[in-house]
Amino acid sequence: MAPIDPHSFTDSTHPLTTHVSLSLYLSFPTSTIHASALLTLSSPFSGTLSIDSRSLSLSSILDPKTLSPLPHSLSPTPDPIRGTEISVVLSGQSQILIIYSTSPAASALQWLSPPQTFSKTHPYVYTQCQAIHARSIFPCQDTPARRIRYDVVMNIPASLSAVMSARHVRRRLPLPEEATHLDSSLCWCAEDRVVEEFVMEQPIPPYLFAFAVGELGFREVGPRTRVYAESADVEVLDAAEVEFAGAEEMIRQGEKLFGEYDWERFDLLVLPPSFPYGGMENPRMVFLTPTVIKGDASGGQVVAHELAHSWTGNLITNVNNEHFWLNEGFTTYAERRIVEVVQGADIATLNMGIGWRGLKDEMERFKDNLECTKLKNNQQGVDPDDVYSQVPYEKGFQFVLRIERQVGRTAFDEFLKKYIATFKFKSIDTDTFLDFLKANIPGIEKEINLELWTEGVGIPEDAYEPVSTIYTKIISLAEEFKQGKMPSEDEVAEWKGQEWELYLENLPKSCEPSQVIALDKRYRLAESKDYEVKVSFLQVAISSKCREYHGEVEKTLKTVGRMKYLRPLFNALAQSGGTEEKQLAKQVFAEARETYHPIAQGVVESILSKYI
Ligand code: BES
Ligand code: ZN
Repeated sequence: MAPIDPHSFTDSTHPLTTHVSLSLYLSFPTSTIHASALLTLSSPFSGTLSIDSRSLSLSSILDPKTLSPLPHSLSPTPDPIRGTEISVVLSGQSQILIIYSTSPAASALQWLSPPQTFSKTHPYVYTQCQAIHARSIFPCQDTPARRIRYDVVMNIPASLSAVMSARHVRRRLPLPEEATHLDSSLCWCAEDRVVEEFVMEQPIPPYLFAFAVGELGFREVGPRTRVYAESADVEVLDAAEVEFAGAEEMIRQGEKLFGEYDWERFDLLVLPPSFPYGGMENPRMVFLTPTVIKGDASGGQVVAHELAHSWTGNLITNVNNEHFWLNEGFTTYAERRIVEVVQGADIATLNMGIGWRGLKDEMERFKDNLECTKLKNNQQGVDPDDVYSQVPYEKGFQFVLRIERQVGRTAFDEFLKKYIATFKFKSIDTDTFLDFLKANIPGIEKEINLELWTEGVGIPEDAYEPVSTIYTKIISLAEEFKQGKMPSEDEVAEWKGQEWELYLENLPKSCEPSQVIALDKRYRLAESKDYEVKVSFLQVAISSKCREYHGEVEKTLKTVGRMKYLRPLFNALAQSGGTEEKQLAKQVFAEARETYHPIAQGVVESILSKYI
């Protein structure tokens, strides 16, 4: 066994899967997918092949040519992080057909019942596969070291429609011959069912597999961009149309900076509020939380970030999660370059400032777990969802910026384009990047301590604390709060969400309660429609033991499932030291749990079990 990824059973000496053909029958009443997966290997293989899976019920594993069963076994108990290893014995085959169904608790899938949707009349299901959840939808070598092409035949209720991170081929009536391998009681061809066909021609790491099924509608916002959302949610569709009107301009700027856009379409899907991330860079169809739509620059920022992944992350992919900074650090850098052109340098600097603050906070959070402050870090036995942090984003950003500052923008832009062109559609590790850097910028290792940046803990001294008038002003106003001074109406007159966010995040962790209440009375922060502002404020309120805000905290935790908000609020409650706070955390989680995506459920569970 020669593992290539601490989060996968894939063996590096085995042939890779190059293609997956999926037939999926979605059963909403049982929250189950009845499926078959045809895996094609790069070459015929004899021996025992390792495949990842998580909570799948296998019914048979066949040689597709002869339809005879292939000997196989499952690891006796699932690994808590990696799931269940399927070992299939092959004797010269290059294809494997697996008939199986998913579990209602599949970690990648959130099944929403009609009352949990906007329209309240139709169910909804969506995926989130990064980092290691694709294996709960289909058996695969679930490591970003491997890339697959795929096609999907998806059987869904005729009242719904499907979108995927793939090219939509057609919507049509189901055909009886498609269901030969599946359970005959499924009624594949029932009158109220349709089939949606998709094909993904660009090879992707499995974590970029994605779909959503619901009562969906869309608006055209650009020549290669539509925004999708629940069709009944006209308000979101209207707002998204305006918010994302600048998508095409961003793509053009991205192409100027990083090279051709290789994914043809750049569609956006606005998900229900339980979506656990701000955005997910699923190729051709980015997934977004509805909380980014608020009519200011931040919606654009998230789109710029997910778009930037089209080059850094989706074209050049981290070989495994130990090198996650290659995805997120470069993307944060690329995002800010796009933001600088389309929204202006001031906003880019403000984002840099928010990132810097976030990085400092993470150093505090990980002061007893310094491994997590390294760019390249050891994740043997570590669940990626448990160590998700700003470090790969912001320390990674700082490292890329450090190189840019050393060589100058013009030379760095050349370098970036060459880097992307050289490694596109490949998965690489930190050393591959460093070798390329040293080869293309000779002598760089004498100017920058590359080893300290990539393998050292903490923030290197030559990191760059952003400077701009507005940034410095906000930091000093936050400092003055400690002395009892509140910013004046004049001082905040121009502030939007991001300025408030930076201000609130720079307040002391615990403040004088009367001062916190006075700040809110004046500026109505707890009721802000901008969740970044609201949550930053509520965090201060919880840590300062202002219990009058517990109602608002509860309401927030029951409305959104984005982990960026759940994490700080549950952490603040659990770590506040107060019994009332801990009680609230427990009670709210018990009541809201079912409305969260399984990944978010797991993350909140681990926060609570650590402190309560
Ligand atoms: N790829 C990430 C989301 C992710 C990371 C999902 C790790 C699962 C595991 C995505 O590109 C991202 O970084 N989203 C950010 C938004 C952004 C503007 C920094 C988020 O969700 O907050
Ligand atoms: Zn990202």
